[in-house]
Amino acid sequence: MRDFDNDDGHMLFGGMRAEAIAERFGTPVYVTDENILRENYRRIYNAFSKHMDTRVHYACKANSSLAILRILEQEGSGIDAVSVGEVMTSMKAGFPASRILFTGNNVSTAELRTVADLGVPINIDSASELERLAGIDTKIPISIRVTPDVGSGHSEKVVTGAKGSKFGIPADLVVETYGRALELGFRPFGIHAHTGSGGQTPEPLMDVVSVLADMTNAIKDEHGLDLEVIDMGGGMGVPYRPNEREMDIEELASAVTDIILDETSVRTVALEPGRYLVCDTTVLLTRCHDVRYTGTKNYIGVDAGFNTLIRPAFYGSYHHVAVANKFNRAGEGKYDVVGPICESGDHIARDRALPAPEEGDLIAVYNCGAYSFSMSSTYNSRPRCREVLVNNGVAELIRDSETIEDLWRHQMIPKRLS
Ligand SMILES: Cc1ncc(COP(=O)(O)O)c(C=O)c1O
Repeated sequence: MRDFDNDDGHMLFGGMRAEAIAERFGTPVYVTDENILRENYRRIYNAFSKHMDTRVHYACKANSSLAILRILEQEGSGIDAVSVGEVMTSMKAGFPASRILFTGNNVSTAELRTVADLGVPINIDSASELERLAGIDTKIPISIRVTPDVGSGHSEKVVTGAKGSKFGIPADLVVETYGRALELGFRPFGIHAHTGSGGQTPEPLMDVVSVLADMTNAIKDEHGLDLEVIDMGGGMGVPYRPNEREMDIEELASAVTDIILDETSVRTVALEPGRYLVCDTTVLLTRCHDVRYTGTKNYIGVDAGFNTLIRPAFYGSYHHVAVANKFNRAGEGKYDVVGPICESGDHIARDRALPAPEEGDLIAVYNCGAYSFSMSSTYNSRPRCREVLVNNGVAELIRDSETIEDLWRHQMIPKRLS
């Protein structure tokens, strides 16, 4: 887990005191360090590209804020998009259609048509989707997503590659589906699988590439089709807890590219990291407004609830927390950090050793760059919060908070009720 510098008891983030950022922009607020984002991209791209031609498609569901996308576009990334909204947001941030791959799941024919009209290559997810796309456009480049029967992930909710999954063409139908694609007039350029999100070990990622290599060879034997790209999906985990180890990305890249180069004639690898690129770039700063001792539990009541960060409530995820204005003080008791949402599951953290809290303290929640703002909501009619980008000691607003009026913007009361 990445930790941050301590300036005489004050947490530093991106060269600034976290307290100064919170005072200027208010709380709750997501704050991203641009340098970490660029470093993460370069580390993973360099690890793979020194072995073979590499395409990194950032899985923008993790964080689709325009400024984040813009930075990754500048770095040379591509995009893994799952909806027309993600495709168009990426294009708004400057990505050309050719650097986006659309991997939908149970998408409508209208959505496929829009994506094809935008010129974005499509990663086919089912036999139904293949037939429906053939009725619209057989010129758009396609690859095919398969179910590799290899699953991994931090929660069963995010395992996507296991047998019986709702994602991809079942393993025993893959060769035949490529045949059908050729019959329909497509010439698929690649094969894709995604095991799941946030696994901590590299083995499932190596296994999935072996499966894809075998399938690639079977497709070549049966149909004489030479695929250009093996796309191993995302799922490179990051440490959330203080003592967790980082995934060795150099080792992963070397193992995976060895498999592809030794066992197939494919010369391009694609990967779709989401969490790996953005997770540790961002902290959520949230203010303590309420301290209460119940006799059995000590609570630190903050202004970010599961409307702002849903991962702990939804997945039971661990996010490290620290008191930014008491950064050099050891734990003095065990506390639960809880938000303002009217549900007892509204926890950010449980049983953490923290300095004795006071109203006004600033809590920093770590590893909030992935699946955090992008999964936030307006539950309990609380507008979504701000996002700030920090670059070498300079902080800039990249998303303003919503207003109460925004909550009503698309609602209407029928006249007869007025
Ligand atoms: C198809 C696909 N690719 C990539 C990803 C990114 O996963 P991660 O953020 O764990 O790298 C996901 C996330 O679920 C996905 O569904």
